[in-house]
Amino acid sequence: MKFHVMTLFPEVIDQSLNYSILKRARENGIIEIDAVNIRDYTENKHLRVDDYPYGGGAGMVMQAQPVVDCYRSIREKAGKDLRVIYLTPWGKVFNQQMARELAKEEELVLLCGHYEGIDERALDMIATDFVSIGDYVLTGGEMPAVIMIDCISRLVDNVLGNESSSEDESFSDNLLEYPQYTRPYDFEGHKVPDILMSGDHAKVAAYRKQCSIERTKKFRPDLLEKVKIEK
Ligand code: ADE
Repeated sequence: MKFHVMTLFPEVIDQSLNYSILKRARENGIIEIDAVNIRDYTENKHLRVDDYPYGGGAGMVMQAQPVVDCYRSIREKAGKDLRVIYLTPWGKVFNQQMARELAKEEELVLLCGHYEGIDERALDMIATDFVSIGDYVLTGGEMPAVIMIDCISRLVDNVLGNESSSEDESFSDNLLEYPQYTRPYDFEGHKVPDILMSGDHAKVAAYRKQCSIERTKKFRPDLLEKVKIEK
């Protein structure tokens, strides 16, 4: 899967996704991350990419020209129109279900805004999706892009090795993940639940399911409401 990230800070994207599992996936060519500097496409001789907002108001607005031309160059390389996701606090809120859907795409473009946002005409011309990573405001779209790429990439085939799985984890059933334990059996007097030592797979599975339900009740009762509605 290939991610093109349109940004004023390509090094942030590159460095933030270059360790551990994603580093290996990039080295193996399973994931490709192409961070493109929007500034490289400005026609302004001082390399400006922003200007004052029409109508007044605080801050600066990213201009349409470099953003649209940056996308055009990505589209040309790809040889086809691509889904372009603009990261913005007013977008649809990202979740595991959205990640599963986006992981089916072969190529995605993530557009990171800065300052007070991007000239609306550029969004009208190129953006296909509007996504927020939560109800809070950040200084730019780079962190949201990194978070989305991390989350989507681990759902792509062969990114997670045998040592981890994306099936048995939080949100897979609208339930939170059950607690995990490893050696030693007794840590400073705190023992591992005996049922996990029993070797009885059915009992272990039932116990874990119960733990998931309890944890979800305690931390995210709203998810249990969803389970009821969907059933
Ligand atoms: N840009 C600034 N804040 C954001 C958020 N919460 N989600 C996505 N993009 C953003």
